[in-house]
Amino acid sequence: MSSSRRPMIAGNWKMNTTPADGRELAAAIASGSAAYGGVDVVICPPFTGIASAADAVSGTNVQVGAQNMSAEESGAYTGEVSASMLRGLVSYVIAGHSERRGLYCETDAAVAAKATAAHSAGFVPIVCVGENLETRKRGDAVSTVRSQLRASLSGYTGWDSLVVAYEPVWAIGTGEAASPQQAQEIIGELREELVALAGEKAAAGIRILYGGSVNSRNIGPFVDRPDIDGALVGGASLQADEFVRIVEMTARLLENPA
Ligand code: PGA
Repeated sequence: MSSSRRPMIAGNWKMNTTPADGRELAAAIASGSAAYGGVDVVICPPFTGIASAADAVSGTNVQVGAQNMSAEESGAYTGEVSASMLRGLVSYVIAGHSERRGLYCETDAAVAAKATAAHSAGFVPIVCVGENLETRKRGDAVSTVRSQLRASLSGYTGWDSLVVAYEPVWAIGTGEAASPQQAQEIIGELREELVALAGEKAAAGIRILYGGSVNSRNIGPFVDRPDIDGALVGGASLQADEFVRIVEMTARLLENPA
């Protein structure tokens, strides 16, 4: 964490929660995290739960994000959701989560188009990158993730409104988080890449999150690292108490830096 960037804890609910469950979860997260105003708290329900979750957190310091968004404005795109449909409901849009890349064949170019469309619509994109286990074992994690970021931000210009998430594929949903050293190493490299793309000043203001098996017991050492500005949390974001505890641990570190 750096004193110049606000820490962020974002929960990705994935394909979980009905609108009613989501309303309850969102309300519990909002009341539990009300005391930790120094941390940006974001929840990303599935599309069908966005309206009820947004309603439940209205007037609180919890913000809402979408897990995906079409780069197209409207028309014959069955099953897709556009920026105008999300307007007024969300502030953030996740682009290029590894499950979208892996299971739904989203390319870097598609992710870049989504990031640009989200920014043009007034949302803050959360652009995800991360290597798979094979790439890490080959020793190619740094170059792979840097080039993934470069390609996923091709044509992007909204440098004052961007969040990046480093999520190694092998750490997502496995219970085997990267070590804070591994995460800092890659995230430091991603910041270098952002310097090359956006310039020193803009890059210094862009928040970079770690994601992959984050929970309340392991969050501390991640956010203690200079370039890691928070976390994108999957499984542990579905339990209000556990998610709030992650927010609390982050807020505590903010007050008492190591
Ligand atoms: P996980 O998921 O916390 O369940 O590993 C992280 C993510 O996919 O964003």
